[in-house]
Amino acid sequence: MNYIQGQTALDEEEKEGLLISTITTRAELDEFEQLNIESAIEWTLHKKLKKEQLLSESFVKKLHQKMYGNIWKWAGKFRKSEKNIGVNYYLISTTLKILLEDCLFWIDNKVYEPEVIAIRLKHRLVSIHCFPNGNGRHSRLMADLNRIDPLIAFAQS
Ligand SMILES: Nc1ncnc2c1ncn2[C@@H]1O[C@H](COP(=O)(O)OP(=O)(O)O)[C@@H](O)[C@H]1O
Ligand SMILES: [Mg+2]
Repeated sequence: MNYIQGQTALDEEEKEGLLISTITTRAELDEFEQLNIESAIEWTLHKKLKKEQLLSESFVKKLHQKMYGNIWKWAGKFRKSEKNIGVNYYLISTTLKILLEDCLFWIDNKVYEPEVIAIRLKHRLVSIHCFPNGNGRHSRLMADLNRIDPLIAFAQS
């Protein structure tokens, strides 16, 4: 089959959990996801979260849900199967807890510069790979929230 560039059809596996049945191509999916992510970013702008709230399992899930909840059934839910990247799926919650506690420790004890903390958080988040998809974009937004909002994330304890 020939497709215009960006018009690659999604296969059945890729469509698993898709809430919008009219999305049939990669380009359409990218566009819908981007719109959903932009609304999530707007949502974060109105939040005033303390670092303990930001660095919690419930916020990690909530942010993923806000980013992809209009598109994917599994948004905001940890994956339940293995990927070729990431920890064993049944270790996601405990591994994430260790990361979030480490991150709070780095902040409270000024172990690294804020930029370095954000990068370390992003790197470890994506290597845990909490969700079936969207982990790259989600981890970058988590890092941005921890870096751009230092007054909110770091100052109010
Ligand atoms: N082998 C790997 N080692 C480290 N990072 C990886 C590896 N494979 C994929 N990634 C990271 O995982 C992310 C892709 O995960 P994915 O859940 O598909 O997120 P997204 O859909 O937002 O791109 C990318 O940011 C990529 O850098
Ligand atoms: Mg992906």
